[in-house]
Amino acid sequence: MRSLIDIIDLTVEEIDELIATANDIIANPDKYAEKCKRKKLATLFFEPSTRTRLSFESAMLELGGSVIGFSGANNSSAAKGESVSDTVRTVGCYADIIAMRHPKEGAPMIASMRSPVPIINAGDGGHNHPTQTLADLLTIHREKGRFDHLTVGLCGDLKFGRTVHSLIHALSRYEGVQFVMISPDELKVPEYIIQELEKEGIPYTETRSLEEAMPTLDILYMTRVQQERFFNEADYIRLKDSYILTPDKLETAKSSLSILHPLPRVNEISVAVDNDPRACYFKQVSNGKYIRMALILKLLEVE
Ligand code: CP
Repeated sequence: MRSLIDIIDLTVEEIDELIATANDIIANPDKYAEKCKRKKLATLFFEPSTRTRLSFESAMLELGGSVIGFSGANNSSAAKGESVSDTVRTVGCYADIIAMRHPKEGAPMIASMRSPVPIINAGDGGHNHPTQTLADLLTIHREKGRFDHLTVGLCGDLKFGRTVHSLIHALSRYEGVQFVMISPDELKVPEYIIQELEKEGIPYTETRSLEEAMPTLDILYMTRVQQERFFNEADYIRLKDSYILTPDKLETAKSSLSILHPLPRVNEISVAVDNDPRACYFKQVSNGKYIRMALILKLLEVE
């Protein structure tokens, strides 16, 4: 039995397989309509979500399965003090697979050690978000046709942005990828990730200037400043509008640039950018459902 806790739990070959399956689902949805008949997905969301929870639920429904779950800790016995381990041992009696989001880093990993069914990490605190990364990878692959030899700009809250951490880990495995990390000093990528990049000899630069980085980028991955992870409201207010992508800032960008954002957006991409053909963030939303369908099939070992 396999769970997915960190994106590096999957080999690059397995990621290729998931992308191939997702592309086949997009092309031939009817072929998959009953693949998970009589299977149940539980979505245990101890933190708010729109895309991740609903895309997991849509994914299972489109595979012919069914869905149970809760969308807030207060709607579960966690509010009475039940541990994550006991929760998943219980839900494992009702469901075949569990997608879990939790505010505490490592909670899905602990859950996977006690669960009788596969656990999918749907976001753990400021740590990782591997299925968002799968959605990002499918989007990059559909836009660029490859993962290698790309200059990837990561912009915004690189400290608390769990999607950024998982994406760096995923793309670091491909030849010729370099990262341009664009953030205020207070929201730089955590030191442990920098140390991993240095150890592996993966090229990266850090800058505060989006304008300076823009002409070099093949991918621009914008992120929201993560209000819920701040201890101090004043710091959030000071930093929240550090970067706002507008059409004029894109004037120096490559015509082949792909603009990604895991969403939700607050203010960091102007709605005026949405009609730019380089804007891919709503494609990411759609791709998220298909790659989660592929992942459910893989973890449930459905042919
Ligand atoms: N990208 C993402 O995780 O969105 P939600 O918080 O809405 O699930």
